[in-house]
Parts: sequence; C-alpha cells; structure tokens
Amino acid sequence: MKKFHGSKTIKTAVFISGKGSNLKNLIKFSFLKKSPVIINLVISSNSKAKGLNFAKKFNIERKIFTLNKKSKDENRLLGILKKNNIELVCLAGFMKILSKNFINKFRGKIINIHPSLLPKYKGLNTHKRAIANREKFTGCTVHFVSSKLDSGKIILQKKVKINKFDTPSKLAKKVLKLEHDLYPKAIMNIYSNL
Ligand code: GRF
Repeated sequence: MKKFHGSKTIKTAVFISGKGSNLKNLIKFSFLKKSPVIINLVISSNSKAKGLNFAKKFNIERKIFTLNKKSKDENRLLGILKKNNIELVCLAGFMKILSKNFINKFRGKIINIHPSLLPKYKGLNTHKRAIANREKFTGCTVHFVSSKLDSGKIILQKKVKINKFDTPSKLAKKVLKLEHDLYPKAIMNIYSNL
C-alpha cells in the first residue's frame, strides 16, 4: 500500500446501498488536512439510496451498479475503478456481495465497516442477535475484505455497553455513532503504519 506523505494521495471510492451516513462522514473526514484520502467516486447498488445526495452535494462522481448481472457488471465496475485510478475501496453499508475475483483484484485495498464486534455476529441483524443473546457489549469493526463474509483481517474495533433498555434500533443508532468515529481512524491507521 502507498505511503502517506501528508497530501491527499489515496484515491478512494465509497460503495453504498442506503442512507449513507458513513459516506457523509467519510466525505467530511476527507476534507480534513490530516486525511490521506480523497473521495473521487461513489458507487451505489441502489438508484434510490439517500446517500447519493451527499455525493451530489459535494460534487463527487457517482454511479449505480445493481450488480444483478454479476460478472458483467463487476467487470464494468472494475473498469471504472481503474479509469479513476482508485487505490482504496471503502464499503459503507454496501449490501451486495462482491465476487472472489473482484476482491482479489483489490486485495489489501478494500475495507468494510460492520456493526458488531467481529468475529461475533457476521451477516445481518447483528443488534437483534446480540440483544437476544444477552451480550453485555457490542460495537463495530473495520476490517479488510476477504472472500469470506465479514471475515478479513481486523483493522480496528470499538465497543459499547448494551443496557437493558436497548432495542435493536436504539442500539443501531448508538453503534452508528461509534462507526462514524471508527472508520476515519481505521483509514488513518492503515496509512500511518507503513
Ligand atoms: C451501518 O451500520 C453499517 O455498519 C452497516 O450498514 C449501516 C449503514 O449505515 N453495514 P449508513 O448507510 O452508512 O448510514
């Protein structure tokens, strides 16, 4: 991975499917002087994703890829990432599973945020399952993406206490706040450790 010399050199694409609060947060982060990344591209698997509005607001190029015809769409997507010289892909609430071929092409350069303390609660409905299992803590994880779902090397985690009044939606809000703190830190961590 490229070394960070204090100017924004890491061309980044953020992949979303929905609200895009992590995208908004990463865009804000990218404007800070200390940020190693510049967000050049937003990819959405959903043409109605609210997050696309943030890309529009900040004049960031955006493209829709439903990835329904997987290999054909992925090849087109790879072409666009290459054309834009994308060096880092941040998945942020991206609900599609990328193929092994795609992930291998971006090995070590594609990261994800997941709303649980991995390896616990991979997949969906993490908060509901954590509450049902009477966990005392939950949290979020930023990790490198590997071909196994939510299983790549962990970069950073942050945890929070689950209290007895927490519902899955209350917990989701609490964890989302942590996510907004963690994702930029994880990016800083990747580029400062080289
Ligand atoms: C986040 O909790 C993320 O961890 C999960 O989906 C949610 C996306 O939220 N994978 P947003 O679209 O960034 O607001």
